[in-house]
Amino acid sequence: MPELDEAAPRLTHGEAQAIMDLEHHHTSGAYAKRPLAIVRGEGIWLWDAQGRRFMDMTSGQGVALVGHSHPAVLEAVKRQAEILITCPEIFYNDRRGEVYAALSRYTPDGLNRFFLCNSGAEAVEGALKFARLQTGRPGIVAAKSGFHGRTLGALSATWNPRYRRGFGPLLPEVTHIPFNDLRAAEAAIDATTAAVILEVVQGEGGVVMAEQGFLEGVRQACEQHGALLILDEIQTGLGRTGRRFAAEHFSVTPDMLCLGKGLAGGLPIGAVIWRDSLGKWSPGSHGSTNGGDPRAWAAAAATRGLRESGLAEHAARVGEKFLADLRELEQPMIRELRGLGLMIGIDLRKRVTPVLKALMERGVLALPAGPTVLRLLPPLIVSEDQLGEVHDAILEALELSQDE
Ligand SMILES: Cc1ncc(COP(=O)(O)O)c(C=O)c1O
Repeated sequence: MPELDEAAPRLTHGEAQAIMDLEHHHTSGAYAKRPLAIVRGEGIWLWDAQGRRFMDMTSGQGVALVGHSHPAVLEAVKRQAEILITCPEIFYNDRRGEVYAALSRYTPDGLNRFFLCNSGAEAVEGALKFARLQTGRPGIVAAKSGFHGRTLGALSATWNPRYRRGFGPLLPEVTHIPFNDLRAAEAAIDATTAAVILEVVQGEGGVVMAEQGFLEGVRQACEQHGALLILDEIQTGLGRTGRRFAAEHFSVTPDMLCLGKGLAGGLPIGAVIWRDSLGKWSPGSHGSTNGGDPRAWAAAAATRGLRESGLAEHAARVGEKFLADLRELEQPMIRELRGLGLMIGIDLRKRVTPVLKALMERGVLALPAGPTVLRLLPPLIVSEDQLGEVHDAILEALELSQDE
């Protein structure tokens, strides 16, 4: 059972239900909701309205890389909000340039131009638009099972028919090739291709890693045909896979990089980053009112120091140990274990929904990735002991939901 926190404010079951009923009455319906009213977060922990404490192995869908409400992030946001709460990019700002400069020392070689926005999908939109504009070509090559967001351009690159159904016609000239099929990629990339967009590890698609040789081959094919390689590291970037960027596992440098999720320690953000030689937008050709928000960048600057103090290495070490421990057990309900760093997929021989429910009842929140994959995206600050507890909870949940 999730632990009851005696010190936390506690509502009755009925009062907690009233919170959910009110939201349910007005919500868009876009989300499959879980029956939990979350009221507080700190580190790897979340509390619900009834004072129950949960281990957040979702990081709020990959956002809380440095944990929930990290004091350095809070302090930076508070200070920035007191000085200047908003400042669109039509003006210069004393902090924004500093943050760009610092981040460009962290991003892959030579990627030093930034377009800032507010979400991952917006970053993908920006990258696709920029690629078409700069190359003067229409074609986009993406991968089957790839996920790039749900706005119309990003959705055109996203593959799963479940997300696309009912929204057509989507962007023309988008081709989906099987992930890891280099021959298919080489056949699809030609003189009409503006860009190839790929995840390095497909997150929503089931935690599926790029195979050795695939990204390298796509990189070459892009160079051969003058197409741009866009890597969507919105989920895999910033230490998640045990390196600063997942592409480093393959020594591949993209032409453009999309970031989002944890870049600003929990505040909404998205970024497209590319190298100088590709050129720039002309004024008015793209934009976003809140892009480059000072609070988001103050938070991004605060998390940068935390990220660079060994978080990626920690993620690599504890993630590998977690997978090795699970592998040793040879649990018959586990078909395959996949992962890099703290991006972990447990492919089950059964549907994942009852396992997620049983885990929640044991105080652990996790994510699905498709119908049978249990996905863990813990905050990168999670300790080896805490992951040990998650390991035990998963085994219990699997045994308990065996017959469902
Ligand atoms: C790889 C990838 N790209 C794009 C997105 C879209 O990001 P957002 O939900 O912030 O629009 C996601 C979100 O999960 C993602 O995992």
